Amino acid sequence: MNYDQALSKLTAAGQEHVMQYYGALNEEQKESLLTQIENTDFSVLGSLEQKDGAGKRGKITPLAAMQLPQIREKEQEFRQIGIEAIRAGKVGAVLLAGGMGTRLGSDNPKGMYNIGLTKEVYIFQRLIENLFDVVREAGAWIPLYVMTSDKSHEATTRFLKEHGYFGYNSDYVTFFVQDMAPACDYEGRIYMEEKWKMATSPNGNGGWYSSMYKWGVAKKALEDGVEWLNVFAVDNVLQRIADPCFVGAVVANDCAVGAKVVRKCTPDEKVGVICLEDGRPSIVEYYDLTEELMDAKDKNGDPAYNFGVILNYLFRITDLEKIREKALPLHVVDKKIPYMDEEGNYCKPDKPNGYKFEQLVLDMIHELDSCLPYEVERKKEFAPIKNATGVDSVESARALCTENGIQL
Ligand code: UTP
Repeated sequence: MNYDQALSKLTAAGQEHVMQYYGALNEEQKESLLTQIENTDFSVLGSLEQKDGAGKRGKITPLAAMQLPQIREKEQEFRQIGIEAIRAGKVGAVLLAGGMGTRLGSDNPKGMYNIGLTKEVYIFQRLIENLFDVVREAGAWIPLYVMTSDKSHEATTRFLKEHGYFGYNSDYVTFFVQDMAPACDYEGRIYMEEKWKMATSPNGNGGWYSSMYKWGVAKKALEDGVEWLNVFAVDNVLQRIADPCFVGAVVANDCAVGAKVVRKCTPDEKVGVICLEDGRPSIVEYYDLTEELMDAKDKNGDPAYNFGVILNYLFRITDLEKIREKALPLHVVDKKIPYMDEEGNYCKPDKPNGYKFEQLVLDMIHELDSCLPYEVERKKEFAPIKNATGVDSVESARALCTENGIQL
C-alpha cells in the first residue's frame, strides 16, 4: 500500500491523524505504518455506534444443566468413554493465552505469573500439571494448542521453552497467533502507540478457531484425527483440562459443545449464565440478566438461571467448521490502553481510557445446535485470577489451591 492509498483508507474511516508524523519517519518506519494500515480492519469502529443499542436479546428460557448427582451416577460410564476418546487421539486442548491481563497488571503474559509462596509455581505450570494428570491416566499425550497474540507470543514461546514446557512433550505443543484490532479513545479516535504504530489490542477470545484455521493448525488437528477441542482460559488455575468425565458426558449426549458451569453463589453474581435464547443454546452476560430472570424458578422450584460458565468448553470440530465463517458480534470494551501523548511520551494509564473491540467465545455457543451445561464443583475447579487482590485474585486462587492440597 502506498501513501495515497493509506491516506484514503484512513480518511474513509475518519482516522487521518494516524499519518500526522509520517514526514518525520525513516523508511523502515514508513513501511511498517503503511503495512499496519493495509492490514487493519477499521470497520470495527462502526460498532461504537451500536454500542448503546447492544444487549437486545431474543426470548430467554432455561437450559437445564447436568448436575453433580446425575454426573456421579454415570461417572464410570462417562470416564470410560472420555478415556477411550483421549487414547484414540480424538481430544485436543486449546489454551487461550492471547489476553492482555490488564486487571492483573503484570507486564508479562498472565501465564508467566508466579503464584508460588515457597517455590516457583507459574500459572502455565499449574495448567500443564492439571493436563498432565489426564495424560498419565490415559497413557497418551494430548495435543496442546496455545493461542497467543502479537503482544504475548514471543514472551510465551520463550518462557515455555526455557522451562522445558514444564515436562510436557513439546512435540504435542503447537502455537498460533490471534488477530489484533485497533484501540481508540472515547471519541472513536485511534490511539497511537508510536509515531509509526497505531495502538492495537488482541481482538478477543472469540476468534480462536478462525485463527487456528488461518494458521493451518485446525487442518493439521483434523488430519491427526482430533475430533474435540477443549478450550480453556489461562487464568483458572484449578480447572480440569481434557477432563475424561466431561468429555464422556458430551460425547454420550451427542452435543456440539459442552460447557463447564458452576452453581452461582448469589443471583447477581457476575458470571455469564447458560440458557436458551429463541430456543438455541446461549449465554446471557450478567449485565443483561434482568431482575425477572434472576428471580425465575424452574419446574422444580429452583432458580432457573443458576449456572455460570467458567470459560472451559468442549467443541466438536465438525460443528466448528460449520460456523467458522460466521461473524460473531463485536463487543466494545472499556479498557486501559497504553498510548503516546501529544509530546511523544509513552503513557500507561491507571484507569480505563478508551475502547477495545472483542469477539467472545461465549457468542459461539449460540451458533451451535446443542450444548450440554456440565456442573463442576466450584471449590475444586474454579479459581480464576483476574485481579492482584480481592475477588478472583492471586490471593483467592492461592487459598483455593491450598484448600485442594496443591503446594505453592
Ligand atoms: P479476559 O476476559 O480475562 O481478558 O480473558 P484478559 O485480556 O486476559 O484480561 P483483562 O480483562 O485485560 O484483565 C479470558 C481468557 O481469554 C483469553 C485470556 O488470555 C484468558 O485466557 N483472551 C482474551 C484471549 O486469548 N484473547 C483475547 O483477545 C482476550
